[in-house]
Amino acid sequence: MDQIKLIVGDSITNMKAFESNSVDLIIADPPYNLAKDYKATNDNMEFEEFMTFSRNWLTEATRILKPGGTIYVFMGMRLISYTHVIMEQELGLEFHNWITWHYTQGLGKKKGFSSRHDDILMFTKSGKNPTFNLDDIRIPQKYYRSINNMRGANPGNVWEFSHVHYSQSNRKAHPTQKPEGVIERMILASSNKNDIVLDPFSGSGTTVRVAQQSGRKAIGIDIEPSFIEETKKRLAEPFNGFDSIDERMLRVPNDLNDEEIRREYFKNHIEWFLKNHEGSLITYFTDFKNKYDSKMSKEEILEFENTVKKYNVKLKKSRVKKNIDPDLELNTTISLF
Ligand SMILES: C[S@@+](CC[C@H](N)C(=O)[O-])C[C@H]1O[C@@H](n2cnc3c(N)ncnc32)[C@H](O)[C@@H]1O
Repeated sequence: MDQIKLIVGDSITNMKAFESNSVDLIIADPPYNLAKDYKATNDNMEFEEFMTFSRNWLTEATRILKPGGTIYVFMGMRLISYTHVIMEQELGLEFHNWITWHYTQGLGKKKGFSSRHDDILMFTKSGKNPTFNLDDIRIPQKYYRSINNMRGANPGNVWEFSHVHYSQSNRKAHPTQKPEGVIERMILASSNKNDIVLDPFSGSGTTVRVAQQSGRKAIGIDIEPSFIEETKKRLAEPFNGFDSIDERMLRVPNDLNDEEIRREYFKNHIEWFLKNHEGSLITYFTDFKNKYDSKMSKEEILEFENTVKKYNVKLKKSRVKKNIDPDLELNTTISLF
């Protein structure tokens, strides 16, 4: 199949045309029934209608998922327990996790508690061992300790990522665009290169964009034609790193006191945790220097600065692509030299 396929139309009708057991990973972010304006649909069903809709699309999704394949489903907290029952009790999928996507900003309620999380169900289809690439989604340790695995820790099932704000350059004209960092973690964990990832409610195209930049094949379906048109443009944009990151990816472990280990760790951290997050490198470099400056030998400082310069050149190249003056100091680089 093509690397990326985009389909305008109803996801249930379109999934019916897929072969059974043909998709490696499904990331579904259906309407939460919160009356959002998705143009073609009004996201405002009666409870029973919503249940029938959920049952129908989940039945097709389960049929086309390969044995051992994973399905992640986003859902708002009012209806997620019903979605869980459909997936586990009615469709026989295997429960793996209930992930909480926590964010710190949002509407402040005057009465009652403000919402600060969305939830994601993670199920797999039985028949084969599911793919789970832990090494690709680890987060840095807080401390350098020989008992800790310096390759990093499991990120757990509470994920903090900011929403993509309207002021951010990657914000699209879609009311519920998800952060690329959230989708990146799912794709890296639960699929391999060239696997097929399906998003049956692709909206602004977050899943297909992340799949494209992660070497996976992807299929996106959305009923609203303008969202698919915007997704095509998004896929053609130059790539300068994903639009969001779990802040823990930036943390520099304490107690990296041995110079040899610290020098090796400094470079490994970039490769292990900040690949595809070019925009966050400056923060990492600054924090690393602030934490270990007083301990660094002359050779180590030279090596550190060479690495920083190497990546800064890359940053400048991406600025040129974006028509930003390459010599304009946009961040804290200045303080490093
Ligand atoms: C929550 S949004 C998805 C947002 C997406 N994850 C993103 O990051 O932009 C849900 C999407 O489902 C689409 N949709 C609603 N009903 C649909 C249906 N029956 N078939 C296909 N798409 C549908 C809407 O147009 C909307 O874009």
